[in-house]
Amino acid sequence: MEDYIVFGKHPLDGKLKVYGAKNAVLPILAGSVLSGGVVLLKNCPRLSDVSYTLDILDRLGCKTAFDGDEIIINPAGVCSRPVAAGGGDMRSSVNFLGALLGRFGEAELPMPGGCRLGRRPIDIHVRALRTMGVKVETAGGMIYAKGWPKAADVYLDFPSVGATENVILAAVTAPGITVLNNAAREPEIGDLCRFLRAMGAKIRGEGGDMIRIEGVERLDGCEYTVMPDRIVAATYMCAVMTAGGRLEIENAVRPHLEETAAVLSRCGGEISWAPDRVTVRAPGLIVPCGTVRTGVYPGFPTDCQSQVMAVMACGPGPSVMIENIFESRFNIVPELRRMGADIRISGREAVVRGGNLHGAELRAADLRGGAALVVAALGAEGESRVSGIEYIARGYRDLAGELRQAGARIETVPTKG
Ligand code: EPZ
Repeated sequence: MEDYIVFGKHPLDGKLKVYGAKNAVLPILAGSVLSGGVVLLKNCPRLSDVSYTLDILDRLGCKTAFDGDEIIINPAGVCSRPVAAGGGDMRSSVNFLGALLGRFGEAELPMPGGCRLGRRPIDIHVRALRTMGVKVETAGGMIYAKGWPKAADVYLDFPSVGATENVILAAVTAPGITVLNNAAREPEIGDLCRFLRAMGAKIRGEGGDMIRIEGVERLDGCEYTVMPDRIVAATYMCAVMTAGGRLEIENAVRPHLEETAAVLSRCGGEISWAPDRVTVRAPGLIVPCGTVRTGVYPGFPTDCQSQVMAVMACGPGPSVMIENIFESRFNIVPELRRMGADIRISGREAVVRGGNLHGAELRAADLRGGAALVVAALGAEGESRVSGIEYIARGYRDLAGELRQAGARIETVPTKG
């Protein structure tokens, strides 16, 4: 086990390159079981959630190999068997539900499990798949699904990202036309659809709230390059805001980052764009940015909420953060208070004041919250120890190593005691 030791107030000055998106590659890996041939994925990030997912594919009988940033999956030997828990409270294992139904007409896998963000139910997934004629039951922490998905008009009562992905994965080989209404519009949905089209799927409308899927007999192998990770890019933007200095971020896709960039410029950051990159210059003082509300895409992303709250806490404030997507995603508040921030929570709203944060012993409790603690520590006076960095490794390849490349003073040390 290891911790980060972060020495605050060392301005960044450098360039970082964004790698492949966790929340795109995970559903794409699940979708590879639908393929009749070998799949080659490029720009894949080395993350613990990716290795958990490869373990699941191996246990299902696929042959997988991860070389550099390329993953090869040969699904020839894939068979229908229960998906054992892939380790960790991995939410994205639930994408195997749609993929295995599409391939075998049955699936048995663990409930994704509650995590630190709230209950994480799957009622929207279940209702959607039942509309497609699948029998789905949940019992004893497991999901049991039986029946070939049938084309249908499906309505999501909330544009759940995972439910959207599961319906698409179940529908691509279901004879007829499935129309998915109130679909999630996140860019990772688009990446999944482009990947499935590269295998021969017939899908239209992704990025909007109505997606039309025409089932095909067979999907073939393909080669596909995963999109850049917009949340990693946004995390880097927040890091330079608190550490100070200047950072150039390559493979930043402007439409994916508009909302975060708008908030950071309200905090005083200077943001300049070029075709495939963004440069952020930190302000001398982080100014109050008013109220920020998380929402579904293209709204302000919930996965950037903790990191931006850390930026808010490095300024006097008051700034307000409202979390509309998850019922409990303020895990970093007690940690920021320990650094000297004054944060008042009522329900989904946090009023943030700060400005003179000092280093402290900090504990990560979830993936993005862990990254946010590093962001806060970069802007604090003195030294902080961040433990629980295994959470950060789920979604970041080597957060400390990358920020070090840009001038941050962060050490990785054995966990204390
Ligand atoms: C995906 O989770 C992402 N994970 C999350 O990123 C991200 O925060 C989330 O989408 C929202 O953008 C992956 O892609 C692997 P949802 P998902 O279904 O699919 C409720 C990260 O840090 N809900 O859109 O689980 C749910 O509880 C992770 O990378 C139901 O009530 O998100 C939540 O409050 C964290 N019933 C809200 O909807 C359901 O059946 C959004 O969930 C499904 C969801």
